[in-house]
Amino acid sequence: MPSFAQVCAHSFPSVGLSPPEWEVSLRDDVRGGVDTLWIGEEDGGEEDGGVVAGCRLFRYQQWISGVRMPMTGLSTVAISATHRRRGLAGDLVATGLREARATGDAVSALYPFRTSFYHRLGYGMSGEVRQYRVRPRDLPDNPARRHVEIADTPEARADIPSIYDRWVPAQTGQVVRGRRAWELVWQQDTRHAAIYRADPDRATGYVVFRYLTDDRRGGRAIDVEEIVWLDPAARAALYGWLASLADQWDFILYRAHPEESFVEFLRELCYPAEGIPPWHSWFPTSNVLAGPMFRILDVERAWGERRVDPEWSLTLALELHDPQIPENEGEWTLRLDEGRVHVRRGASGPADLRLALPIDVLSRIFIGALAPSAAVMAGLADVVGTAPVLALDRALRLPLPWTFDRF
Ligand SMILES: CC(C)(COP(=O)(O)OP(=O)(O)OC[C@H]1O[C@@H](n2cnc3c(N)ncnc32)[C@H](O)[C@@H]1OP(=O)(O)O)[C@@H](O)C(=O)NCCC(=O)NCCS
Repeated sequence: MPSFAQVCAHSFPSVGLSPPEWEVSLRDDVRGGVDTLWIGEEDGGEEDGGVVAGCRLFRYQQWISGVRMPMTGLSTVAISATHRRRGLAGDLVATGLREARATGDAVSALYPFRTSFYHRLGYGMSGEVRQYRVRPRDLPDNPARRHVEIADTPEARADIPSIYDRWVPAQTGQVVRGRRAWELVWQQDTRHAAIYRADPDRATGYVVFRYLTDDRRGGRAIDVEEIVWLDPAARAALYGWLASLADQWDFILYRAHPEESFVEFLRELCYPAEGIPPWHSWFPTSNVLAGPMFRILDVERAWGERRVDPEWSLTLALELHDPQIPENEGEWTLRLDEGRVHVRRGASGPADLRLALPIDVLSRIFIGALAPSAAVMAGLADVVGTAPVLALDRALRLPLPWTFDRF
């Protein structure tokens, strides 16, 4: 532990922890302690080698197609500052992924320090949000804002997890949160929450936010970290409440899911972004932020649990390339029928479609970040077959993925 803590202190100086503080943090994290560490030691011959590499393999569950998939959250990849550029991080992650698969995880997700590094390890981009910077008065007022309450104590926040739990199964890529996971959301009480109660016993929406108190003129903002509603009334009330803060706050930073139609609520659509090249009379409205990457660890288990549109019944043959996980490599047959996927090893019998593709592309298709037809049009997958690829698009379609939790 002391030697890995030292590797972490040199690898993540901006976190500001000393090696002993790293040790405490690695042992006791709400997401898991020593059991989540995956460590690489230098081969010291007869002697014990020192720890030169390590990462954390958190065990999460991620909602995909209405099912909780056991997911490895890869985090804290750190290589000793004197052992870089020898392929150690690549080896560490590849062996960690095989271990995670062996212990039963079907998929994995991470936030990359550099996308090309994890792309080579089979991960594909799997989440985008549109970041808006809106003036509060550009949101619509709503009389139901009177039913929005600040929830700053554990008692006042008690209804929030149950709103999240009712909302999350229909999302793609969000993470199942236990009691301790919520402690991370509040970040030692530096975040606030507001909750909407349609009536005293029925809470149907909440917003988690921070204050950005930059004193420069125009720099005071409400940073919306997450916002969840179970019905349109809750959404309208929460927007109305944010609009009512106009005299105190210059703008609201809001990250919208690409399919939530946020712009329909805005009175004015201009994003005050400096330095964006103009395109004739077109103007910027938001920034696109990309975050998580995603990978299938176990083809058979992941597809066996994935739900598909029951209207579509077809047989898909896969020729899959996975350099890190040999059990995934090669031929697979997926029979999509009555909303389920029946997975068989090998190329058995005739198929309506045959796709040849690498694991990162299949992973993006799996989580709904990329339609099969888009993969083919981008030259990421080769296709032959009698059925139109659009049939596969429809069968596999999910809401676009996103993930609030960071690890
Ligand atoms: C990011 C980090 C983990 C990479 O570790 P690393 O062991 O140097 O990584 P690798 O050697 O496996 O790969 C890095 C690059 O070196 C290349 N490389 C591997 N062996 C090499 C060699 N013998 N000679 C030259 N380059 C080599 C790899 O191909 C890779 O390049 P590419 O991704 O552009 O194709 C390390 O720099 C680190 O700990 N950084 C600080 C902490 C951090 O940012 N962690 C990630 C966030 S969670």
